[in-house]
Amino acid sequence: MKFTFHNPTRIIFGAGTIEQLGSTVSAYGRKALLVTGGGSVKNSGTFDRAAASLKDAGVSFAECAGVEPNPRLSTVARGAEMARKEGCDVVVALGGGSTMDAAKVMAAAIFYEGDLWDMFPHGQGNRRLPEKALPIITVPTLAATGSEMNCGSVITNEESTIKSFVTAPCLYPKAAVVDPELTASVPKNQTAFGVCDLITHVTESYFNGVDGTPLQDRFAESVILTAMEWGPRAVADGNDMEARAQVQWASVVALNGWVQAGTFGPYPVHMIEHVLSAHHDIAHGAGLAIVNPAWMRFAAKARPERFVQFAERIFGIQAKHPEDQEAIAEGIDRFEEFLRAIGCPTRLFEVGIGDTMLERYAQDTVLVAHDDQGRLPGRPVMTTAEIVEVLRSAL
Ligand code: NZQ
Ligand code: ZN
Repeated sequence: MKFTFHNPTRIIFGAGTIEQLGSTVSAYGRKALLVTGGGSVKNSGTFDRAAASLKDAGVSFAECAGVEPNPRLSTVARGAEMARKEGCDVVVALGGGSTMDAAKVMAAAIFYEGDLWDMFPHGQGNRRLPEKALPIITVPTLAATGSEMNCGSVITNEESTIKSFVTAPCLYPKAAVVDPELTASVPKNQTAFGVCDLITHVTESYFNGVDGTPLQDRFAESVILTAMEWGPRAVADGNDMEARAQVQWASVVALNGWVQAGTFGPYPVHMIEHVLSAHHDIAHGAGLAIVNPAWMRFAAKARPERFVQFAERIFGIQAKHPEDQEAIAEGIDRFEEFLRAIGCPTRLFEVGIGDTMLERYAQDTVLVAHDDQGRLPGRPVMTTAEIVEVLRSAL
């Protein structure tokens, strides 16, 4: 193993930590761009609590409301314009992954010359990463993406229907105020999609990473087992604060880089899913619940011993030999059953997607992520025909 790892985001975790938002933000600025989504933070009372905490700390703010799920590039541009006009010197994201992702790029857009879309790979030659951003403070209200403590953002260009990602050191939040109580109002379906998303963040590196990372394997397995233990409880009772806290901590750990350190795995399942949520505006976690089991059945042929390990360690299945096909199939089936049991869709028709555009989805996938032969990186690498095959198996 050989790697460097540095995550500079300070995390303030626990019930009631929203009260510390103002003092946290005031260390970085006096006027915040307060970024919110479609209204859930107003309905839950979270907005008022955040506003009061900012006010107590002497921080004023301009609100950029209305970030949509699967956030659009035009929304990012609107927020950046508002931050400029209002003279904001810090950005606070109060919402789910979409709100946080949009807020991060707004913070960087202030300093970015030219077309914002150049930050995002979409088949262009002139990709330019952002190098500077206003200080970012994240307050997640949904346990899912881990965006609160990582340097990534996923944005959709609504003109081309391409959803792409940017990762850059300047996008690391300065601090993440992670208060599980804020997730109490998340509906059952979004809770389940979040559980699926966080599990998929670690299955990506688990199945696509380099060989010889036994400690990282165990980290990933512990995230999966923890999510499978506490996720159903959070779905069953949204006010079960112990379950909410465990799921949220799992979601942070799943994608703050710690589990992935040294694994260097690409994210093929995410790359395929992003195309579905770009075209059909479905919830990211719901799309993953459909694509991941289908992808696993495909990828297991290339790396059976890894899928036997998954079956054994996650589901306690006794394999008869290191490449036992029955054990592999049972492990994937049981994983899919878990997703279904908590309320995730596992077939494309359940989210209204048919077979008419499979080729287009595959083309869009490799437009954003491809090796030098135009194939989707992963273990194994996938041709567009193989992406179509996986999607077809999920119809
Ligand atoms: O918009 P509001 O009104 O806030 O409602 C949202 C939205 O309708 C609602 N919600 C959020 N917190 C709530 C709540 N409802 C009630 N109570 C609360 N406390 O939930 C709905 C979904 O919100 P969204 O932010 O879209 O969900 P999520 O956190 O799953 O974020 C998904 C986005 O993140 C990207 C996805 O592609 C997708 O665009 N991702 C970002 C990543 C990253 N930056 O690291 C990695 C992920 O793999 C992912 O790709
Ligand atoms: Zn994800």
